[in-house]
Amino acid sequence: MWKCEVVDGTELDVEEVAALYRASTLAERRPVEDGARFAGMVRGANLVITARAAGQLIGIARSLTDGVYATYLSDLAVDQAFQRQGVGRALIQATRDAAPQASLVLLAAPAAVGYYPRIGFTQHNSAWVMERAAG
Ligand SMILES: CC(C)(COP(=O)(O)OP(=O)(O)OC[C@H]1O[C@@H](n2cnc3c(N)ncnc32)[C@H](O)[C@@H]1OP(=O)(O)O)[C@@H](O)C(=O)NCCC(=O)NCCS
Repeated sequence: MWKCEVVDGTELDVEEVAALYRASTLAERRPVEDGARFAGMVRGANLVITARAAGQLIGIARSLTDGVYATYLSDLAVDQAFQRQGVGRALIQATRDAAPQASLVLLAAPAAVGYYPRIGFTQHNSAWVMERAAG
């Protein structure tokens, strides 16, 4: 069985998180091979939920939140060996529970476009993105 908990991102083992990103396939779309930048992502998130099974890191939800109005869910990743068992849903629920007054906002990866409508998200037709300046 697995268990979700709120953790302090600054205390996570960045290599362990990188291994999870690879095991989930999210590493294909995140700069896990740029060690300094990936460490910045893990350390800079201020709402991080992990899922562990027998100590093994099997899932993560990495968000930025003000705690009361908006939460940006930057990364959701579940180890492929543990997908479709409710881990993703539980990580999102724990993210919501940590800041219940906040709306949860995200950009879906291509592989997950069909996922979010199934777990309660609605598509927003006026979302806008200014792409990062570099990298
Ligand atoms: C997307 C992801 C986080 C889902 O996690 P998960 O733990 O497998 O999802 P859950 O088990 O909570 O699934 C909840 C429901 O959505 C369905 N579902 C899961 N993945 C889906 C997908 N890619 N497309 C459509 N439906 C999906 C499940 O069958 C389940 O349905 P049910 O409630 O009827 O049984 C996981 O597949 C993943 O890590 N993917 C690779 C990384 C990625 O793309 N992350 C998203 C970045 S935005």
